[in-house]
Amino acid sequence: MTFRHRHLLGIEHLPPQDITTILDLADSYVDLNRRDVKHSDTLAGLTQINMFFENSTRTQASFEIAGKRLGADVMNMAMQTASLKKGETLIDTALTLNAMHPDLLVVRHPQSGAVNLLAEKVNCAVLNAGDGLHEHPTQALLDALTIRRAKGRLHRLTVAICGDIAHSRVARSNILLLGRMENRVRLIGPPTLIPAGATEWGVEVYDDMARGLAGADVVMMLRLQKERMDGGFIPSEREYFHRFGLDPAKLGFAAEDAIVMHPGPMNRGVEIDGTIADDINRSVIQEQVEMGVAVRMAAMDLLARNRAAKPGGVYV
Ligand code: NCD
Repeated sequence: MTFRHRHLLGIEHLPPQDITTILDLADSYVDLNRRDVKHSDTLAGLTQINMFFENSTRTQASFEIAGKRLGADVMNMAMQTASLKKGETLIDTALTLNAMHPDLLVVRHPQSGAVNLLAEKVNCAVLNAGDGLHEHPTQALLDALTIRRAKGRLHRLTVAICGDIAHSRVARSNILLLGRMENRVRLIGPPTLIPAGATEWGVEVYDDMARGLAGADVVMMLRLQKERMDGGFIPSEREYFHRFGLDPAKLGFAAEDAIVMHPGPMNRGVEIDGTIADDINRSVIQEQVEMGVAVRMAAMDLLARNRAAKPGGVYV
């Protein structure tokens, strides 16, 4: 086992063998999670603090369940009511928590780069649960595990990522991971929602679903992140659904056995038709949630093993 990282800040820092190490361990946690008694003592005696500076339902719940199943003492900081509102800086809050000797800090923050900054200031393992438009590494890893289990492999697949790419840290982490594992990645969306320079990321860019989805093995839909838009990105939700919303006719362009994914939360009738989201023969959206817990257990387990490593023996 060569996984030697101190933090999980982004896919950017993970070579293919580390991605495989996390996914292999996560597979064994899927088995544990399907048993009646879902408990292990892997993180017993360790303290995990979840700091979410942005609203989250599934990611925070998933990290909390993951820590509890591994026996950690898990604490959720309600950041909306915390001292930050009183003007304390992110770093002061982090240092205060650090003085309580946590072992794992799970952080979501609306600003890109905030989690990396925090990781430099504390002496415990930091996991990025989403920072601004930058990265969301555990989401890309859970998506990868879902794809690997559904397709039997994680290479030489055509993956179409559709919708609001510009505002999506999920897309960014997935593009990095899928590219690193030698898949063909296509981005599909209106030009206003495709970031400038996307063609330099080693992806193909399309502005129509028929061409972009042709023969795709995996169709990954993204939420329109209205809270990150300052207006003018799409003409109307109805028009958007008509052109880019995944419905049975558009899914027909993809491979016959293509799977449909969505990181949630979904806007039914905006980026995805409800009947497709609920079609157990095509949609793996519930599997993604299940894999999320297992991937987070694997990531925290691996980081906890590295806690005791000598300084200098471990890299970011
Ligand atoms: C995503 C996020 O927060 O980046 N959701 C998630 O983690 N489940 C995507 C989104 O909010 O659309």
